[in-house]
Amino acid sequence: MSKVVIANWKMNPQTLAEAEDLFQASSGAIVCPPFIYLEELSKIRSGVILGSQDISPEFSGEILRRLGVKYVIIGHSDRRWGLGESDEVVNQKLKLVLKHELAPVVCLGEKSRDRDFEKFLQSQTVATFAGLPVDEIQKCLIVYEPVWAISTSLGAQPDTPESALESIKIIKEVLSSNFYILNSNFLYGGSVTSANAKDFLSLDEISGVLVGQASLDREEFKKILGIAKNV
Ligand code: PGA
Repeated sequence: MSKVVIANWKMNPQTLAEAEDLFQASSGAIVCPPFIYLEELSKIRSGVILGSQDISPEFSGEILRRLGVKYVIIGHSDRRWGLGESDEVVNQKLKLVLKHELAPVVCLGEKSRDRDFEKFLQSQTVATFAGLPVDEIQKCLIVYEPVWAISTSLGAQPDTPESALESIKIIKEVLSSNFYILNSNFLYGGSVTSANAKDFLSLDEISGVLVGQASLDREEFKKILGIAKNV
């Protein structure tokens, strides 16, 4: 599969006109805009695949499907840590995404790289995928996104490719021993820019990147898309 680039716009940009402009410039990406722009952006034919930043029983998967949404981010650190979403809630959302035949983008990652981080990743992985059969888990794009590496603008530093691979290996081992999954697609997220995208995207073990801040700058994001195409 060619490398995947997902834009997580969070609560940006400030106007619909800016959102339309940025959307049109993001051809080749999966773009997850704020909910309030989904309807208008779904009318634009731009070579962009539409994604959603969340799902919930209150925000119907049917509506997302009707809007042409194909991918849904769940377990993002803003929700796990900012809004206190437990692994159980993320697991329920994952099941909901699959029930509506949407493709899950499942974020996993430790809050700090302390001596317990391996155990933390193991238990987060087990709880996030609990009760799901092999074929459903294989539909997921799994994003390793260490919380401490998110938001360059707030002074975070990206993980290094080597240590991201170490964490991906830990998650893979859990998926293989607990869920019998031998093949899955892993993405990296956390302060990805055009300066470091190649380091991650050129690795065989990494199928793509999830980009926050840098996806809001059209020139910067175009560079990342170009790198993804050419690795
Ligand atoms: P960042 O955000 O690229 O700005 O670090 C990534 C994310 O939160 O998904």
